[in-house]
This record gives sequence, C-alpha cells and structure tokens, in this order.
Amino acid sequence: MLIKSLKLVAAATAGVPAGLAEIKARSESHDRKHLDIKPHLYGLWLSSVIASARIHDKSWDARTEDAWKTILGHVINRMKKAY
Ligand code: HEM
Repeated sequence: MLIKSLKLVAAATAGVPAGLAEIKARSESHDRKHLDIKPHLYGLWLSSVIASARIHDKSWDARTEDAWKTILGHVINRMKKAY
C-alpha cells in the first residue's frame, strides 16, 4: 500500500491527476481528524524510509537520495499544511 502510494505521489510532481488525488486523500487520512499524524513526525518518517531504501536498494546513490528528499519533501509540506 505504501509503495503504491509513493509511486502515485511521485507522479503528482509531474502533474499526473491520479497522483494529485492521492496526495489529497493521504492528506485527509493523516490529518488531525483521522490518523492524527503530528507534523513533527514527517521528518523522522522520511529519514527512516530513506535509511531503509538505502540498505535494500543496491543501486542507491546520492542523486537518488536527493530525488527522494525533494519529491517527498513537497508531499510532506502539503500533508503538514493540511493537518
Ligand atoms: C509522504 C508521507 C506519507 C505517505 C505517502 C503515507 C502513506 C500511507 C498510506 C498509503 C497508508 C495506508 C492508507 C491510509 O490509511 O491512508 C498510510 C497509513 C498510515 N500511516 Fe502514513 N504515509 C505518510 C506519512 C506518515 C507518517 C509521517 C506517519 C507517522 C509517523 C504515518 C503513519 C501512518 C499510520 C499510523 C497509518 C495507519 C496504518 C494502519 O492502518 O495500520 N504516515 N500511510
């Protein structure tokens, strides 16, 4: 479920409509009225996701890491604002 969501939110940065809808849906499911994910948790979450991907992806490099940080950074900003 998380991988599917990550692919969609990445597509949103290229303007893909299904990706934009996914960001909206995830912002709502994680907001204070639903899962109540406090904004300070997103930075910790991003570090953990990146640490796991770095261990498991043999072709991981600095460029890949920067791309993840940039793209997920945009998504996280949206989710924090929607909190
Ligand atoms: C870009 C950031 C994130 C994405 C794309 C994402 C995506 C998802 C998806 C697809 C689900 C399952 C569907 C749903 O319940 O909405 C989910 C559930 C969940 N997420 Fe996130 N998430 C993000 C950040 C976080 C963070 C920062 C936390 C807390 C540290 C978190 C905690 C949870 C929890 C507790 C669930 C429910 C798990 C369950 O039902 O067993 N998420 N997330």
